[in-house]
Amino acid sequence: MGVMNDLLTNDLFPQALLPVTLQGPADLEGFRRAARALLAQQMLPEQVSWHSSDTPVQDLFASPLAGAVAATTAIHNAAFANAPPVSVPPEYVTLCETAILHSDASRFGLLYRILWRLVHEPGLRHDPLDADMIKAGHMAQAVRRDMHKMKAFVRFRTVQDETFRNHPEGGPLHVAWFEPEHHIVEAIAPFFARRFTQMRWAVLTPERSIQWDYIRPHARHFVSSLPPEGASPALGRPGGGLAQLRFGPGASKSDAPPPDAGEKLWLTYYENIFNPARLKMKMMQKEMPRKYWHNLPEAALIAPLAAGAHARSARMVDDVAAGPKRRLPTIKVLPVTMASDEDAPERSLAQLREATNHCRECPIGACATQSVGGEGSLLAKLMFVGEQPGDQEDLLGRPFVGPAGQLLDRAFDELGIQREQVFVSNAVKHFKYELRGKRRIHKTPSQREAAACQHWLDDEIAMVQPGLLVALGATAARSLLGRAVPVMAHRGQILERDDGRKVLVTLHPSALLRMPAEEREAAYAAWLADLSVLNGEIV
Ligand code: URA
Repeated sequence: MGVMNDLLTNDLFPQALLPVTLQGPADLEGFRRAARALLAQQMLPEQVSWHSSDTPVQDLFASPLAGAVAATTAIHNAAFANAPPVSVPPEYVTLCETAILHSDASRFGLLYRILWRLVHEPGLRHDPLDADMIKAGHMAQAVRRDMHKMKAFVRFRTVQDETFRNHPEGGPLHVAWFEPEHHIVEAIAPFFARRFTQMRWAVLTPERSIQWDYIRPHARHFVSSLPPEGASPALGRPGGGLAQLRFGPGASKSDAPPPDAGEKLWLTYYENIFNPARLKMKMMQKEMPRKYWHNLPEAALIAPLAAGAHARSARMVDDVAAGPKRRLPTIKVLPVTMASDEDAPERSLAQLREATNHCRECPIGACATQSVGGEGSLLAKLMFVGEQPGDQEDLLGRPFVGPAGQLLDRAFDELGIQREQVFVSNAVKHFKYELRGKRRIHKTPSQREAAACQHWLDDEIAMVQPGLLVALGATAARSLLGRAVPVMAHRGQILERDDGRKVLVTLHPSALLRMPAEEREAAYAAWLADLSVLNGEIV
């Protein structure tokens, strides 16, 4: 039966096991190739012993055989290259892709045994109680859980590294330390690349490190400082930057940076949002298992906050009865100075944008790609305020560029408004969403979240000093007028703020986009009628 059976009958392997060595602990391609070849050679699962860099052959075979194993591995690597493809159910492919990342050394053998059985026992795919399938399913589930925890518990710290000191316009490096249980680092790297696209970051783990070298569009001159080795090709990113994902060897916790100022801010925030009345220790530990605590800065606060929870919730009950409601603490992350020279407003707007980017006064900012500040003319008489950036705005860093923005642009055209002459912004500066599969679905910001963003909007209004504000939808109306405004009852009306500024209230363009197609044009005409008040007023 060819090279492999020759190997089995030779004296080197009296125990009649064929060693197969994969290139790394998550070498799916190598496993696939080897499994195809073994199947083509009718190799029984129990005739094969699987190894990878995390379970080296040398551990299992007596040392005199180690050299021979390396030689035979080279021979059968050649044999694997030409093996014919095998047809398997798609669920098996999905199972393999995940379960192979498990840290249990038996995973390759198990997956090959399942493959063998799928070919020889076609009924297996419909047997939900099969022990091998159940075990592999549990492995895949453990890997998915580990990936989920890594997504939730990675905490970046800011480092002003050598590259930053030489090229500050490229931004600082953000470094995180994490200890996954399984071999998930390479599989999860694209998630972090998508989530933190416009940041330079590295995640260090004991087994592998990932680095994302993002170069801002205006900082391209240091592109030559990117080391080409081991790197994916440079990719163009939304916003015009370049980016590259690189993998390196594992690291140790001491390679990760110590706590920084951003972390202090996060801890202050955590302390403030901690609701003692809602403390459910068991649930919390289920969501945030203790084994992750030693790398989570906020974990140090849990014990003292939990210890004082009872007394604090009793005080909260008393406070509600006795006086005004607790307000969100306002923490300004970076002071925004109003410079006095000619470029001052532009510079202040850029500073404001930078400050909102670091804002963690509510949880939304931590999950968004970047903040989206207002844009347009600083001399504008009209300022349009929406709710929050959407998916495309979050990626591009500009307000109203997605479908709602296109509808707003259409209205601007029809009303004879030049977009560059007005100022367009949002009540909330970061995109709040819920992940559904790969899609990020818009979620309405809560009142507390909008309240936390209020002072950023106030800063923009103070800079632009518009003669008229346009509240697009309920969130904007509440932020601009400081109280809940029933939009349908007040649409098309101009209301007054406490500071005397005027606010035209109307629907958000997304509300029109959500209507059934047959109602949309009439709704659009009514919306345009609301906005046409602007013609007489200001434009
Ligand atoms: N919706 C908003 O409220 N603002 C945007 O910028 C985009 C969509």
